Amino acid sequence: MKIFVINGPNLNLLGVREPAHYGRETYDELVEKIRRHCRERGVDVDCYQSNHEGDLVDRIQQAYYAGADGIVINPGAYTHTSVALLDAVKAVSIPTVEVHISAVERREDFRQVSYIRAACVATITGHGTDGYLMAIDRLLEARDGRTD
Ligand code: DQA
Repeated sequence: MKIFVINGPNLNLLGVREPAHYGRETYDELVEKIRRHCRERGVDVDCYQSNHEGDLVDRIQQAYYAGADGIVINPGAYTHTSVALLDAVKAVSIPTVEVHISAVERREDFRQVSYIRAACVATITGHGTDGYLMAIDRLLEARDGRTD
């Protein structure tokens, strides 16, 4: 099982950025937490972050060429604007889980739109960085044929 974890703009500033929404854990700590979680489950994980929309599209396409079984993506603000990311996930047909650290549904109106959601098998919001681990487990359950 190979999973690509893709983070969008400003997520490299975790720990510094608006801690009331995103907590105090740094991006490096998040990556270490994801790697540990995957190691314990025998999952091969690739973690990537970019502030640039086209680079995120490229990474989704690389997941296809690398034969990834799943994608976990937090597109950051591109969630609310990017048809290109939606099209990329549709194009590769890899089961994808959308993650948001904060409870976007309880925030501003402009955060209520998610273009990418239409191409995702699940969305996890408001669980802090544990949401990434939940997303990985969701992909593992889907692989094992469990839906509960
Ligand atoms: C976010 C929510 C987005 O609205 C915001 O632009 C982000 C982070 C989250 O993880 O809660 O950059 O995706």
